[in-house]
Amino acid sequence: MSKTIAILPGDGIGPEVTREARRVLDALDLGLTFAEAPVGGAAYHAHGHPLPEATLDLAKRADAILFGAVGDPSCDALERHLRPEQAILGLRKHLVTFANLRPARIFPGLEDASTLKPEIAGAIDLVIVRELNGDVYFGEKGQRTTDAGLREGHDLMRYDEAEVRRIAHVGFQTAAKRRGKLCSVDKANVLETSQLWRDVVIEVAAEYPNVELTHMYVDNAAMQLVRNPGGFDTIVTGNLFGDILSDQASMCVGSIGMLPSASLDAQGKGLYEPIHGSAPDIAGQGKANPCAAILSAAMMLRHSLDMAAPADRIEAAVAAALRSGVRTPDLGGGASTGAMGDAVLAAL
Ligand code: IPM
Ligand code: MG
Repeated sequence: MSKTIAILPGDGIGPEVTREARRVLDALDLGLTFAEAPVGGAAYHAHGHPLPEATLDLAKRADAILFGAVGDPSCDALERHLRPEQAILGLRKHLVTFANLRPARIFPGLEDASTLKPEIAGAIDLVIVRELNGDVYFGEKGQRTTDAGLREGHDLMRYDEAEVRRIAHVGFQTAAKRRGKLCSVDKANVLETSQLWRDVVIEVAAEYPNVELTHMYVDNAAMQLVRNPGGFDTIVTGNLFGDILSDQASMCVGSIGMLPSASLDAQGKGLYEPIHGSAPDIAGQGKANPCAAILSAAMMLRHSLDMAAPADRIEAAVAAALRSGVRTPDLGGGASTGAMGDAVLAAL
């Protein structure tokens, strides 16, 4: 039976980059069925809600979801539950996609696009396994006025042991398929949430004797990511730390426009998105790099649709297009979004 892919382009550059990913999937002629729905600011403007019921239904029904980006400055003044970002947070929560895989490796020839020295950047081949359903993102939050009359904001950081355990397993399994090294990143010297995290990760480690486990405080991890990123294989960390470290890792490999991601539930169903945002400053100008979206489509084929061979082809085509010198402005080139997509298609 034909698999259904929900395409949720979203805001800003989301539609431009998902269009290129769709072209690549079409060219492979995989017999997929596509259904598109609005999300984020675009959905708010059209339907009054960033995650309309119909969009959520489609996402639940589909075999996999290809997501663009959300974020729209014209929505900044809205109440939080109506802001575009709530769409992606809502999808992650409703679909229970708790495991976010964010691979970062340098494509040959892109060493000079990294802000790191080429020999340091060239050694990067890591994956961040980010927990996606908990932490300060989903803890109790609010603002109030204190007895002293001061405005106060709070966001509760919390994890229970089951939440840590399930993401720890994904971390160990990911590492086992790679170079067998797992680094758990926390802030256990200060945070109780992190102490629990560390304790549980150590317990789970007993089931993976072939994976070498280390622990690192997040501040040190941020430093090591620019000092010696080649030293990392698999990183497992909480939602907030993973958000921050994955943006940092993206710049180490040249551009945030290069990093795809997979957000998986316990059955391997997933939502696939570039880790970059909606980039409103360059939206609609054909300047966006579609590689992260195209590589997200490759991850989708591999992780949710059991189509490893076409996934390999897409990744090889992106590498070949970059090798041929075609580059969008974020990589120091002058190619448009469509021209980059053309180059990938040509390489296919
Ligand atoms: C990401 C983004 C999101 C996050 C935003 C858009 C809510 O930064 O996917 O990394 O913070 O998770
Ligand atoms: Mg982020």
